[in-house]
Amino acid sequence: MGLFSVAVVLISLLSVVSTVSGIGANWGTQATHPLPPDTVVRLLRDNGIQKVKLFDADYDTLRALGGSNIEVMVGIPNDMLLTLATSMKAAEKWVAKNVSTHISTNNVNIRYVAVGNEPFLQTYNGSFLKTTYPALQNVQSALVKAGLSNQVKVTVPLNADVYESSTGVPSGGDFRADIHDLMITIVKFLSDSGSPFTVNIYPFISLYSDPNFPVEYAFFDGNATPLNDGGTSYYNMFDANYDTLAHALQKNGFGNLPIIVGEIGWPTDGDKNANGFYAQRFNQGFMSHIAGGKGTPMRPEPIDAYLFSLIDEDAKSIDPGNFERHWGIFTFDGRAKYALNLGTTNSGVLIEAKNVHYLERKWCVMKPSAKIDDPNVAPSVSYACGLADCTSLGYGTSCGSLDTRGNISYALNSYYQIQNQLDSACKFENISMITKNDPSTGTCRFAIMIEAYYGGAERTVGCSQKALRLAAGLILFFLTI
Ligand SMILES: *[C@@H]1O[C@H](CO)[C@@H](O)[C@H](O)[C@H]1NC(C)=O
Ligand SMILES: *[C@@H]1O[C@H](CO)[C@@H](O)[C@H](O)[C@H]1NC(C)=O
Ligand SMILES: *[C@@H]1O[C@H](CO)[C@@H](O)[C@H](O)[C@H]1NC(C)=O
Ligand SMILES: *[C@@H]1O[C@H](CO)[C@@H](O)[C@H](O)[C@H]1NC(C)=O
Repeated sequence: MGLFSVAVVLISLLSVVSTVSGIGANWGTQATHPLPPDTVVRLLRDNGIQKVKLFDADYDTLRALGGSNIEVMVGIPNDMLLTLATSMKAAEKWVAKNVSTHISTNNVNIRYVAVGNEPFLQTYNGSFLKTTYPALQNVQSALVKAGLSNQVKVTVPLNADVYESSTGVPSGGDFRADIHDLMITIVKFLSDSGSPFTVNIYPFISLYSDPNFPVEYAFFDGNATPLNDGGTSYYNMFDANYDTLAHALQKNGFGNLPIIVGEIGWPTDGDKNANGFYAQRFNQGFMSHIAGGKGTPMRPEPIDAYLFSLIDEDAKSIDPGNFERHWGIFTFDGRAKYALNLGTTNSGVLIEAKNVHYLERKWCVMKPSAKIDDPNVAPSVSYACGLADCTSLGYGTSCGSLDTRGNISYALNSYYQIQNQLDSACKFENISMITKNDPSTGTCRFAIMIEAYYGGAERTVGCSQKALRLAAGLILFFLTI
């Protein structure tokens, strides 16, 4: 092969790489026992997921992504916005430590910095309204100073309620009146710096929060009555929502600003509408909907999206609802929850995590001899559920059909596993015992925890030992009251 043909092959390879938008995934780590970063990176690669969105800039996570060529969006948590908004030095340090170093020494393919995460959510009471834009400006200036502003773009992942439609159809879309000026300022800044608008779109939340929401309209293969917008038909909520944003941008003079869907997905547990059947239907429907570069009526071009989420996170806040810990297409230990063809593997199925190290096959359950009305039961269950994860119990959930004893065992086991099967974590007086017989039934999985990953940093080890000691202290306290 001559030099010229090598060059041609290289150029066509490069153009393939840069035009394949593919599907991305969100990788969150609010878990008691996160999988080691190397295992997750292998999982991403095995599944042909070429883009990942993070919520922080954890060193080990980024280092594991080094050399993988996976496109990375690093995140700045909301609680850092104030510092970055008020100090240019802090923004420069953040970029130096969390972007420049990883690009130059660890060969990480960082492409975006997400400044904040849904900072304008109504539940934050406006806490980040003043800091988001100046933080965005400072981070962008720091990227320019570091000579990285061409390859790394800033963005702000926003919740879909920053825009609304006065007419109820997409063409009435505009930014929310109370933050309209701020949104235009941000959008103009993104446009000037060649950056995209990032939005999270959740038909599940619409269904969860509005009992009258037409279920079929949440899905892509549904037979919902289409929404007629001046002759354009909308058959699903995603398209209508996305186009409401597209109209809002166009109305304000930014009709060409690229849009990234920062989060899209469906949870599998913790609510009557959160299950594998619906999650499969939604996510597979979405993949087919965008396959072949199909877009929406307003934006017929390819959709750039990140699934929410890659893996379950059992330590997320359940303020929004019990479903919050169950968004993964994989379980906490990297098992596929349902059939999903991302169109990125030869087999067309999800490839599970490799080399996952489990604790022993043993469970903490309620003793058969213990009585349900034993006075130790109620406080034990509430203690266990308070520190562990009982979001798979309750109406319509995966363990919702357990009887009372099953419920109690589930709670005790969750606590025991999260405490790394410490003997002292299955000593609920008179009511608990350790068993080697798997209590799982039907859809209800009594999980065995995976080995704790402590990361490279001493600090992390120290911290979890402290947490263990604290927990042990609490158990003693509980057993002696
Ligand atoms: C880099 O990111 C990490 C993780 O989000 C954060 O804890 C740290 O403070 C950042 N470093 C700097 C210098 O801002
Ligand atoms: C927002 O305000 C409500 C009611 O005043 C309060 O309960 C809540 O804690 C506040 N949230 C934040 C994040 O400040
Ligand atoms: C099991 O626990 C859940 C959640 O605490 C509760 O809603 C349900 O009623 C319980 N079921 C039984 C049979 O006790
Ligand atoms: C455990 O059971 C024994 C025997 O029935 C009883 O004497 C003791 O008080 C029980 N302990 C607690 C904390 O209920």
